[in-house]
Amino acid sequence: MIEIRGLRHRFGDLDVLDGIDLSVPTGGFTTLLGPSGCGKSTVLRVVAGLLTPTSGTVTVDGHDVVGRPGRVAHMPQRDLLLPWRRALANATVGAEARGLDRTAARAEAARLFERFGLTGFERTWPARLSGGMRQRVALLRTVVSGLTTIALDEPFGALDALTRRDLQGWLAELRGEYRSTVLLVTHDVDEALVLSDRVVVLSARPGRIVHEVDNPLPHPRPFAALGGTELAGRRAELFDALGAG
Ligand SMILES: Nc1ncnc2c1ncn2[C@@H]1O[C@H](COP(=O)(O)OP(=O)(O)OP(=O)(O)O)[C@@H](O)[C@H]1O
Ligand SMILES: [Mg+2]
Repeated sequence: MIEIRGLRHRFGDLDVLDGIDLSVPTGGFTTLLGPSGCGKSTVLRVVAGLLTPTSGTVTVDGHDVVGRPGRVAHMPQRDLLLPWRRALANATVGAEARGLDRTAARAEAARLFERFGLTGFERTWPARLSGGMRQRVALLRTVVSGLTTIALDEPFGALDALTRRDLQGWLAELRGEYRSTVLLVTHDVDEALVLSDRVVVLSARPGRIVHEVDNPLPHPRPFAALGGTELAGRRAELFDALGAG
């Protein structure tokens, strides 16, 4: 479980986060929405242990993770892959860093290359992959890391609509298969609502929580559920909160 308490951050004179309190229960799926520059990626970098905030606490399964990377699998918004490793070798970086069996990690990654439509690109250098392909390799690396707490920063942004829908479905299934706890950042309201148990809307910078919406439907949920009575009102609420933020 992820617990964020009183998270504030400033970059020099720039006030970025203005007191965020957020819990994601074990096996839960929470999504952050909010205007560009409001601090979403900053929240994820703090949770991943990569950035020490000005103040506040963050624990994962009861462990303090501030300034301590390694407990959360983080898919960053950019700078996704190591340019000096081929695609498949990039996909096993996290697993290797954790000392997991390299052969097993490679086999798991190879299986996902097929699932993600990347067959034939295992030995391709990152510079020769498309943006969407790099994003898919980074997403599967996050999973192959073997960590069950996952922070994903706009994982589908560079994908075409069909691939996006397919991988959204895959992410929804993943929760059942790995019992992952997920904190997702997206700009896509429908993606947020269908995939999450809870959607949290941040204000413009300095980011603070202005609205929260729960999705009560059982998993897995089809995108068609967005037109149903349970979600239509919640969807309108989210658009309102984003507009007011
Ligand atoms: N390393 C840094 N040094 C200084 N300022 C930074 C740094 N990283 C981010 N910022 C600033 O902090 C603010 C929040 O950035 P952040 O990347 O968290 O926003 P975001 O909500 O993820 O935006 P987007 O939706 O565009 O990805 C921005 O104004 C950005 O310029
Ligand atoms: Mg961002």
